[in-house]
Amino acid sequence: MATVLDIGVDLGTASVVIYGKGKDVVLNEPAVITFDRDSRNVLAVGEEARRMMGRTPSNIAAIRPLHKGMVADMDMACTMLRFFVNKVVGKRLIGGPRILISVPTGVNEMERHRITTSLFETGARRTQLMDRPVAAAIGAGLPIGDAYGEMIVDVGGGTTDIAVVSQGQIIASNRESANHTGGDAFDDAIIRYIRRKHNLLIGDLTAEDLKISIGSALPRNEQFYMEITGRNLISGLPKVMRITSDEITEALDDPLHDLLEDIQAVLEKTPAELLADIFESGITLSGGGAQLPGLCEAISMALKVECRLAEYPQECVARGCGLTLENWSEYGKFLSDRRKRR
Ligand SMILES: Nc1ncnc2c1ncn2[C@@H]1O[C@H](COP(=O)(O)OP(=O)(O)OP(=O)(O)O)[C@@H](O)[C@H]1O
Ligand SMILES: [Mg+2]
Repeated sequence: MATVLDIGVDLGTASVVIYGKGKDVVLNEPAVITFDRDSRNVLAVGEEARRMMGRTPSNIAAIRPLHKGMVADMDMACTMLRFFVNKVVGKRLIGGPRILISVPTGVNEMERHRITTSLFETGARRTQLMDRPVAAAIGAGLPIGDAYGEMIVDVGGGTTDIAVVSQGQIIASNRESANHTGGDAFDDAIIRYIRRKHNLLIGDLTAEDLKISIGSALPRNEQFYMEITGRNLISGLPKVMRITSDEITEALDDPLHDLLEDIQAVLEKTPAELLADIFESGITLSGGGAQLPGLCEAISMALKVECRLAEYPQECVARGCGLTLENWSEYGKFLSDRRKRR
């Protein structure tokens, strides 16, 4: 019989990443699903569904079932997740996979239970949850088992998880904080800026495209441009416009400021000894949003502490779950359901 593929899963608000034990990352797709609003029949999941966002007729919904770090549509979230797991694991008659999964911080206990239970439909023989910052830290290669403080900042789509980890425990975090400035907040700021400055209405995908293609947290030496099409709010007609990278930097100023404040608030809650460790070893950034050019430098400059981008930043959480499966004796003891939540 073929060996069962045990998997580490990062169920994100923007993307789902799956790490197969012994196989590295085997799936990385947008967390989007399209379905018929009346029958709730699923039409597309992942990349195909994402291309339909903002372009569907009124009877078809193209949604991110997890939004702003919370569950927007539980049934669709579970359907999407099972689709991806089945795609990776395939159908097995006996001996299903063991799954280690990390979910957004805003997902409550009842919802966590529903998500893990729904995975049994894929044939999973065991499903366990892992705290996101702990998974991100392991995936970023931080030595979290040591009695030494490490700070991980995982900038996702809907949320940013900020935590100080020591001996596998979360010592301080922004878990209870109301605002979680993720990559979506950066996109929203771009939409607001272009509307205010140019009277031009653009969609979410265009805003994200601007951010990824020419965005930067700090002004660049070299100016970049991008042509976009939006709706002129005065005439109501489409209009093409050239946007500069400096404009995007200006647009990102507010959410960047919020992110810095969130990090600072966690540092303020950190015990002095661990704070000294962080100032010695620096802050590590993970998550897709951490790839924004200049973000590390901006954090470093503002907080006067070194900052580095993890390798494979967008995959860190899934890698952390997968590495835990691969090195159970070292990391298995750090699972969230084995200890008190903070
Ligand atoms: N090169 C890039 N520069 C800036 N932002 C980027 C880049 N690539 C991806 N992003 C942003 O990263 C975010 C998605 O990151 P990621 O896939 O880690 O989110 P997620 O894990 O699904 O979300 P969450 O952690 O909130 O649940 C999006 O906002 C996307 O626009
Ligand atoms: Mg994430």
